[in-house]
Amino acid sequence: MIEKFWQQAELAIETNTPSWELFHESSKTGHYDGGFTNEQVVEEMNNLYETFPYKQFEMIPLPTTFAPVEKSFLDTIMGRKTASEIKVQKLTLEELRTILHCGYGVTRDNKDNEYIERTLRTVPSGGALYPLELYFYTNNNIEGLKSGIYHYVPGENAVQLIREGNFDDEISESLVSFQPHLVYDCSFLLFITAVFNRSVFKYKDKGYRFTLFEAGHVAQNVNLAATALDLGVINIGGYHDRMVDRFLKIDGLNHSTIYMNGICAGN
Ligand SMILES: Cc1cc2nc3c(=O)[nH]c(=O)nc-3n(C[C@H](O)[C@H](O)[C@H](O)COP(=O)(O)O)c2cc1C
Repeated sequence: MIEKFWQQAELAIETNTPSWELFHESSKTGHYDGGFTNEQVVEEMNNLYETFPYKQFEMIPLPTTFAPVEKSFLDTIMGRKTASEIKVQKLTLEELRTILHCGYGVTRDNKDNEYIERTLRTVPSGGALYPLELYFYTNNNIEGLKSGIYHYVPGENAVQLIREGNFDDEISESLVSFQPHLVYDCSFLLFITAVFNRSVFKYKDKGYRFTLFEAGHVAQNVNLAATALDLGVINIGGYHDRMVDRFLKIDGLNHSTIYMNGICAGN
């Protein structure tokens, strides 16, 4: 067993196989791969949080209404672009709610499901396992919200202030060298994080791919929601992962940031 492992490891080194290729190959679904029964999946799901509770932090309710949208669906799709100039704009709580809800909000209660009564969201999710958590940082640019880092709770249509303060400089250092300004120029920065085990317990390595797909679904909805609201948006891959994870106080291994978005004034 051990010998085989080393042979494989050496093979990888000798042939310079890039890790993405090894990963992609080993995450393919085979005809003879075993699966779990629905009961086993539900048992495991019940051991995992649907959304982290952050029990000691108060729920701040979001509005139950959406910010008004005048743009048509097609104009929204065709108008989606990275904001040409990143400029801060004060947002209403309704605008924040619209973006978060379009991103990962609850749409259906799923009460008729015979196995598990978990709610369903605006985005598709492999096995309806919803492995992502959303956090955002704002420095006084959202009506009624103090500066700090917030956690989104889709099931409650609420957010929680999990760390209050001005962290502009800390976040700025976590962004790659050509874009430290983004934190000062965006109304808020969204952090899309993945709790990998929520997907990989069922789908193994392919579940990792699923978490990345899902972040793409969320980010696209966020992009479209911002565009529909005549706001600007930027997708951010250029950040130092370990610094961002440390800032969010997540371990970076079981739970790590996989994507960021910035929302700013429309232009
Ligand atoms: C995964 C991903 C990561 C990105 N990261 C950054 C980034 O860190 N900084 C940036 O300025 N733009 C970033 N972008 C934006 C792209 O540069 C932009 O989408 C691309 O140039 C196409 O332009 P458009 O969005 O206006 O259509 C990213 C886009 C994606 C999809």
